[in-house]
Amino acid sequence: MMADSLYIINNFAREYFSNTLFNTEEGQNVGLSYFEERGFTQETIRKFQLGYSLNTWDAFTKAALAKGYNLDYLQKTGLVTIRNEQPGDNYRGRVIFPIHNQSGKVLGFGARILVKNDRAPKYVNSPENEIYVKNRVLYGTYFARHAIDKLNECLLVEGYTDVISLHQAGIENVVASSGTSLTQHQLRLVKKYTNNLTILFDGDNAGVKAALRGLDMAIEEGLNVKLVLIPDKEDPDSYVQKIGADAFREFIAANKQDFVLFKLRLLEQEAGNDSTRKSQLVNEIAETISKIDKTEDFTRQQDYIRQCSQLLKIDEQGLINLVNKFIR
Ligand code: CTP
Ligand code: MN
Ligand code: MN
Ligand code: MN
Ligand code: MN
Repeated sequence: MMADSLYIINNFAREYFSNTLFNTEEGQNVGLSYFEERGFTQETIRKFQLGYSLNTWDAFTKAALAKGYNLDYLQKTGLVTIRNEQPGDNYRGRVIFPIHNQSGKVLGFGARILVKNDRAPKYVNSPENEIYVKNRVLYGTYFARHAIDKLNECLLVEGYTDVISLHQAGIENVVASSGTSLTQHQLRLVKKYTNNLTILFDGDNAGVKAALRGLDMAIEEGLNVKLVLIPDKEDPDSYVQKIGADAFREFIAANKQDFVLFKLRLLEQEAGNDSTRKSQLVNEIAETISKIDKTEDFTRQQDYIRQCSQLLKIDEQGLINLVNKFIR
């Protein structure tokens, strides 16, 4: 079967890149020192099966072909690409992050350039194929699922390195959306383990917007959504490396806020004294509240209606009527 072949090739590549990282001079000098500079320990690097791809034309390709792997399949994984009619390596001189499914099989890779520049993308990710469908994957699920289950909470971050640094700091109930806006598939994946989702996003505008886009969908999926805004110019990786594990935990605990109420306060700020925008805001909040499944969680919807009508200084029954308009 095609899917099996792709898994086999990815597993070979995972081992190959890991071996390159630890056992070649270039891997050690370039790849390992990069990870070390980022504060990743050997244990962390091994746990996440990180690797390095040599800065050569076709070292991986030759090894894979010598192993007998089919060129079409190698191309499907995105590991091999044709240039000037010759098959060669797609990832060259990059550090490698394998992307696992829930049971630890490798679906694909993210490959990061060592020094950011304008000519090449920072990350090159596997193309979509029979096993890797980007918007169905949450990076880190395999490493996080037991902790999510135990703590009954899933933390959501943006990137690979956020997941890895938080694990190293002992915070293991964390997965990444990998820079895309959240999809229903990803939210259902979370729901398999917990109803409690806490989003840790950049405090800048883009981060807040990205988080907001997923809110109604998450609520519709029956998730109870909290938000923590990471200080500007930082992400969870840089911030935990900067302030340390204990301070980071304290920061999370102190800054976790209900996402619906956050949205309300944000819209309220934006609306100011403009009465048209204020009524738009009331509508938007009513719509968000209406997404809560009453049969599953009746008191939660009532609680939100009470809190929001108090915060907005509007009549509670009026808000109830408005919420009901959105429910059919
Ligand atoms: N991403 C991507 N392609 C890019 C940029 C980002 O696929 N060109 C995805 C990656 O999964 C990345 C995530 O979006 O982890 C978040 O992006 P960003 O915050 O820019 O990267 P970081 O994860 O912070 O990576 P680093 O710390 O290595 O810069
Ligand atoms: Mn940002
Ligand atoms: Mn970012
Ligand atoms: Mn980062
Ligand atoms: Mn980031």
